[in-house]
Amino acid sequence: MGAIRKEIEDLELSGISKVALGALGDPEVIPLWFGESDIVTPAFIRDAAKAALDSGQTFYSYSRGTPALRAGLKTYLDRLYGIDLHPDRITVAGSTMLSVVVAAECLLDRDDEIVLLGPYWPNIRVAARLMGARSVDVRLRAGERRWELDLGEVARAITPRTKAVYVNTPSNPTGWIMSAEEGSALLDLCRHNGLGLIADEVYHRNVFHGRDPAPSFLELAGPEEPVFVLNGFSKAWAMTGWRLGWMVAPQHLVEPMAVLAECNNTGATVFAQAGGLAALEQGEEFVRSFVARTRINRDLVMELIGSHPKVTLPEPEGAFYAFPRIEGLTDSLAFAREVLQRCKVGIAAGYTFGAGNEGHVRLCFAIRTERLRLALERLRGLLDEL
Ligand SMILES: Cc1ncc(COP(=O)(O)O)c(C=O)c1O
Repeated sequence: MGAIRKEIEDLELSGISKVALGALGDPEVIPLWFGESDIVTPAFIRDAAKAALDSGQTFYSYSRGTPALRAGLKTYLDRLYGIDLHPDRITVAGSTMLSVVVAAECLLDRDDEIVLLGPYWPNIRVAARLMGARSVDVRLRAGERRWELDLGEVARAITPRTKAVYVNTPSNPTGWIMSAEEGSALLDLCRHNGLGLIADEVYHRNVFHGRDPAPSFLELAGPEEPVFVLNGFSKAWAMTGWRLGWMVAPQHLVEPMAVLAECNNTGATVFAQAGGLAALEQGEEFVRSFVARTRINRDLVMELIGSHPKVTLPEPEGAFYAFPRIEGLTDSLAFAREVLQRCKVGIAAGYTFGAGNEGHVRLCFAIRTERLRLALERLRGLLDEL
């Protein structure tokens, strides 16, 4: 007792894992709890990784990523956003999650504050907590048609202790996509207050409304601003199990980024990076077909759940989650457990996505449409009984 940091002793499972852990692998359960589809990574990506493995790529490599993948990322990002990114700014990480931790390591000290634009994916709150920092929630409001950001509320949440703002767009769990104008205004607010910005853009290609890719802070921020743009391969190319991501950091941090990469996991898995390069170079058709499928699924969620009289649900604009509010719901964890038990459908409890979300649940709609339909019909049946 006493030797372990309090932040560690206090760690609790998220409201996703608390529901899921007891029933993982149960074939009867239709899983809508985690952020992934049931599609195996496309063959051309697997083949590229296999070829790298078979050619002997089993050694330590550059901790910031193989030169081939870093060059591939520059080409991809330049083409996608019409920019000319300095290669020094790109670091390959062993997951988007790891790049979230690195960004927190770069920006947050003990007793600092970070403003989290919510509803948000809970791991950012934990990453901040691990630094000994405090998170302050600013929740978007569910409007009639979309989730709405009130920049005035963000400004009011800033204190002398605030060091950074976190935004995830397209958003897990709401599907909200920040417009270029909203992004620009948020960046100005950060500049004005001397704050860092963590922009989690891992769903940049999962877009139903507006431009693909979603607007990015790579198009807005200068190369030396304290803006960390995080991304990864998990969500656009069905590569959640690969553990491969990247981040774009301020240019002068070349050396610290190399040291952080070395201390965190000494670089991402080398042969996985060959798969990542194939995804960037040959993955456009897959990205389009995956988004087309999730768009159909999004429409199905709106039809079967969004239309329910007890439900409020702004239509998701991107990512692959719906975050309905259920009338009268006061204990989202108990409800998610009830749904698991009675419907054999796995969903995530809303409370875990930040303050003010106890009346919500999150559904991931990336699985096969027919299986999703079955899950939604069961859930709708339960809503009828409430
Ligand atoms: C907003 C957000 N950021 C980061 C991640 C982590 O992605 P990765 O699997 O690449 O670590 C997730 C995964 O669900 C996410 O929803």
